Amino acid sequence: MARSIVVIHGPNLNMLGRREPEIYGAMTLEGIDAALAARAAAAGAALRSFQSNHEGALVDFIHDAGWSSDGVIINPGALTHYGLSLRDALAMLKAPIIEVHISNVYRREAFRHSSVVAPVATGQIAGLGWRGYLLALEWLLEEGEA
Ligand code: DQA
Repeated sequence: MARSIVVIHGPNLNMLGRREPEIYGAMTLEGIDAALAARAAAAGAALRSFQSNHEGALVDFIHDAGWSSDGVIINPGALTHYGLSLRDALAMLKAPIIEVHISNVYRREAFRHSSVVAPVATGQIAGLGWRGYLLALEWLLEEGEA
């Protein structure tokens, strides 16, 4: 079981709840982080969330907290599709990485169909709304090996 988990949210995810709710739903980022924190606490795991609209800030966070965690949940936002420095930062980690997308990116525009993060991730959840984050956390709590 992963005991120290980080959740990383990329660009524009701070606008969840107001951003294209017909695609991303009404749940806010604060609500997602609170649900994840409650579930982790109930399981006795430490969980830290971080959001940035800047790729370099996400890379810095991975060098810092990601390095010492034993499970990573990341929604890279649009960086999914072209963020190579983010991908390289994730590739350094030994911990399992779950890539989460709120929407089903494969039913959307062609540019969303490829992920530069997927080849360095353990697995991916897409299209299950904000609960995809909770499902990723369940997997890390039950299966995730550091
Ligand atoms: C997203 C899908 C991406 O294509 C998009 O750029 C996002 C959100 C999702 O959660 O569905 O910002 O990662």
